[in-house]
Amino acid sequence: EKGGYDYFMLKEIAEQPKAVADTLLGRIDGSGSLTLDEVRIPPGVLREIDKVVIVACGTAFHAGMIAKYAIEHWTRLPCEVELASEFRYRDPILDAQTLVIAISQSGETMDTLMALRHAREQGSKVLAICNTNGSTIPRESDAVLYTHAGPEVAVASTKAFLTQLVACYLVALYLGQVRGTKGADEIRALIRDLSSIAGAVERVLGTMEPVRELARTLASKRTVLFLGRHVGYPVALEGALKLKELAYMHAEGFAAGELKHGPIALIEEDLPVVVVVPSPRGRSVLHDKIVSNIQEIRARGARTIVIAEEGDEAVVPYADHLVRIPATPTLLQPLVATVPLQVFACELATARGNDVDQPRNLAKSVTVE
Ligand code: M6R
Repeated sequence: EKGGYDYFMLKEIAEQPKAVADTLLGRIDGSGSLTLDEVRIPPGVLREIDKVVIVACGTAFHAGMIAKYAIEHWTRLPCEVELASEFRYRDPILDAQTLVIAISQSGETMDTLMALRHAREQGSKVLAICNTNGSTIPRESDAVLYTHAGPEVAVASTKAFLTQLVACYLVALYLGQVRGTKGADEIRALIRDLSSIAGAVERVLGTMEPVRELARTLASKRTVLFLGRHVGYPVALEGALKLKELAYMHAEGFAAGELKHGPIALIEEDLPVVVVVPSPRGRSVLHDKIVSNIQEIRARGARTIVIAEEGDEAVVPYADHLVRIPATPTLLQPLVATVPLQVFACELATARGNDVDQPRNLAKSVTVE
């Protein structure tokens, strides 16, 4: 069943190029525009929406955080993202003009299910982004977009995350298409970018040996920090979550801009700090700011592990370890930047003797609140 891999997680990491391509399959027509027939919420209703609210847990929540950037940028609709376990307890403002997106790999997560039930009671439309056919969350939603990642067995979510991201980008573009905030040409160009991601992920997977080697040398560390900005911030959180659940290590993700508001006090000699660097082309101001962050933490003795685009030379002098990822449009970078962090966590956990498919205290789907 593991297809020659020692762990399901390794198999599922390797399956990501195909999974990402499968999520796009059948959703783009011959002219390069989107045909999301499954989204049975009529375009007329989607045009009346004045707010999007995303609810999810864990890794799916990180996908939601990234989706917010795409939805707001491409549709100009305000978008909130909330942990499903917090959502209904704060009396959220919901009505028929709110589109709620529930993201869940298993489709059985009780917190997410209760959040969507609450939203439907308030008259909101719910769109599920889900990987498991016929599970409870899609059955109770108004519409569902399946991620088609194939079964995910390892407790740590990998291919489900990447495909959730692709599905979120598709929904964001679809909203832009029906609401007219994105022109056909722009949508076609963005879809072309999305279609090239499977190949980019494949390339990243082919260059992971140094990341594995590095992970093994860090097996006895107590803490690893992750920094990112913009869509790289949720990627940092995801890298930290993977390390917590698999390696049972203290790992924390920070928005790099917050460093000076507190976390920089944690930086000490030889502390591994992973930094996800935004593209120097897109939002170049952010790129430059992160380069100064790397400089600052290195000056305090931290060991910098820098994930940066091919051709980004500005980071070279400050990187103790440099992990290259292919250049992508800014919003799509998480699809490639997350992969080294999955490999890193998996290898580090294995080096510590842990079973990465069945981490202690965790279940694949959390069906209690
Ligand atoms: O099945 P779901 O996507 O609803 O699960 C949500 C979380 O429980 C899940 O992503 C969890 O955080 C993973 N173990 C992370 O790797």
